[in-house]
Amino acid sequence: MLAAPAPALSQSIESGKSDYLRLCALCHGLESTGLGPLREAMKIAPANLTLITRRHGGKFPADYVKRVITEGGGIRGHGSSAMLAWGPVFNAEQDGASPDARIEELTRYIESIQQR
Ligand code: HEC
Repeated sequence: MLAAPAPALSQSIESGKSDYLRLCALCHGLESTGLGPLREAMKIAPANLTLITRRHGGKFPADYVKRVITEGGGIRGHGSSAMLAWGPVFNAEQDGASPDARIEELTRYIESIQQR
């Protein structure tokens, strides 16, 4: 059995997860492997978000992930805007937690699902 994370951390991962399920799962899928229902309608396949650490030499690139969430896929240099920018959504939704805190929690959630 895995050691339980500290309460504060697991709580923030849970709130990151609820944002993930609401905003991201349609494309990236419930398992985050890129198999969401919208993928058939996309020209560029949604990325498998459980392999980010593997693709980045074993270290989770939190700053990169935050930038993709905030600014969209265009930052990858492919000129693709298939991955939408969510910064404006987090800025527009004022439901208590600050946009930065929620983006941090979402990023931690994605870190927590990385395959080793
Ligand atoms: C409309 C479909 C769609 C939605 C909704 C969506 N994404 Fe994406 N995402 C994509 C696509 C397509 C790519 C691949 C983009 C590319 O290759 O240019 C991608 C790429 C990414 C990447 C880069 C992965 C890598 O390995 O470089 C991250 C991180 C990511 N998405 C996170 C998220 C998060 C977090 C959310 C929710 C806030 C989200 N996405 C919502 C379609 C989507």
